[in-house]
Amino acid sequence: MVVICNLCAIFGLSIFFLWCQGIASIDYKAALTKSLLFYEGQRSGKLPVNQRVHWRADSGLKDGQNEENSGFDLVGGYYDAGDNLKLGFPMAFTITMLSWSTMEFNKQLMAKKELLNALYTIKWGTDYLMKAHPEADVLYGEVGDSDSDHKCWERPEDMTTPRTVFKIDDQHPGSDLAAETAAAFASASIAFRPINPKYAYKLLVHAKQLFNFACNHPGLYQNSIPAAGKVYPSSGYEDEMVWAAAWLYRATNEMIYLDYVAKSGNVGGTRSMVSWDDKFVGAQVLVAKLVLEGKVEASGKWAEYKSNAEQFICNCIQKGSNNVRRTAGGLLWFLPWDNIQYVTTASFVTTVYSNYLTANHASIQCAGAQMTKPSDLVASVQSQVDYILGSNPRNMSYMVGFGSNFPQQIHHRGASIVSIKKDRNPVTCKGGFDLWYYKNAPNPNVLDGAVVGPDENDGYTDSRSNYQLGEPTLVTNAPLVGVLAHFA
Ligand SMILES: *[C@@H]1O[C@H](CO)[C@@H](O)[C@H](O)[C@H]1NC(C)=O
Repeated sequence: MVVICNLCAIFGLSIFFLWCQGIASIDYKAALTKSLLFYEGQRSGKLPVNQRVHWRADSGLKDGQNEENSGFDLVGGYYDAGDNLKLGFPMAFTITMLSWSTMEFNKQLMAKKELLNALYTIKWGTDYLMKAHPEADVLYGEVGDSDSDHKCWERPEDMTTPRTVFKIDDQHPGSDLAAETAAAFASASIAFRPINPKYAYKLLVHAKQLFNFACNHPGLYQNSIPAAGKVYPSSGYEDEMVWAAAWLYRATNEMIYLDYVAKSGNVGGTRSMVSWDDKFVGAQVLVAKLVLEGKVEASGKWAEYKSNAEQFICNCIQKGSNNVRRTAGGLLWFLPWDNIQYVTTASFVTTVYSNYLTANHASIQCAGAQMTKPSDLVASVQSQVDYILGSNPRNMSYMVGFGSNFPQQIHHRGASIVSIKKDRNPVTCKGGFDLWYYKNAPNPNVLDGAVVGPDENDGYTDSRSNYQLGEPTLVTNAPLVGVLAHFA
């Protein structure tokens, strides 16, 4: 790339030079590879032989076992963020978004030889979620306890904290958790169908059971699992219900699911964000696809879903009537805590929508008379992706391991402590703080692909105690996988 650009400069061909800067300067393929590698760094359980993140080792090998149930197995899955908790609600949303990424950008992932990696990433999650769903009306939603976990700074490989398990069942409902997990299974089932139909079928059985469980036992999951409510409280379950129904319809074509979407008393209105807590936009986009393809009427409630999806997208691309705020450097600004997760979800639905518009020769009517074309959507998303990868006032890549200038001290237990493969001496609960957390030095392990974000002023404090901005989470990368596949 440098050579090409030098040649451009030598020949004074400014157009070529712009081409070099605009197209060749960001290696989206490398970012795509790393966005998936991140999940290998978050793996819990017995690591497989093809594990590529070598500083990690087996951990949480007794998860699920307790006095009541010595044979129960909840080994596997992913640690949520910079801590060592396994949290079903955001994990399931992550799997749904990874599956959506994989089905919409299947060709691109295949062309870049990342499709299998994406499917392995999904399967590491769904294998665990199947263990967490041992009976139709029982779903485990958390392993570990946030209070005790957050008091310690230990590698996952030598955790000494309680691995308490928490579940929902017919006496202790959790429609949001059950429905999101149903969405994860249904979408993963679509992603796996071409390559492993038997596995896809198994996933679908779990999806249908969980949707029924969610319907028949309504309630907010944090009333049943208050521990999870401390970290990921759900604001309602109507969004998860229509989202799960929309996924189940896409996976099965069965009318009961479409009817559920049609009869929902709440289609969401124009939302201000998409997130692990709020999936209305996701459901609206899935319905809009059906409208664009002529599979449902372009009127009534169907039109309402579609119009709400489009208004959200118009607001994200700054052509709406209530545009999303932006930082001076151009990053969409939703919320101060881990803002970047909302940027990646919004970017994903906008990219997917541009594909739906293109496939159906359609455009959007944003505020004002002008038609908004798919290319307008893509251009807007590209500005967000480029910002994340280094085109920003600090010239900092907010993806760890990408480029030459990225955060060195992200808030992450595993990354910030020497690998157990280099030093087997156990790091104690409090010892980890003294030896590693407070050490003002780069993390010994580079957690490739971890994404963190700047503050409202495009600034970033590269400090391990900056957990509001500097703690990577599972939910941030999943939508980015699809977006990066598009640009790669
Ligand atoms: C970022 O890079 C640009 C262009 O190379 C440069 O002009 C600017 O000073 C850099 N900003 C920082 C904060 O390093």
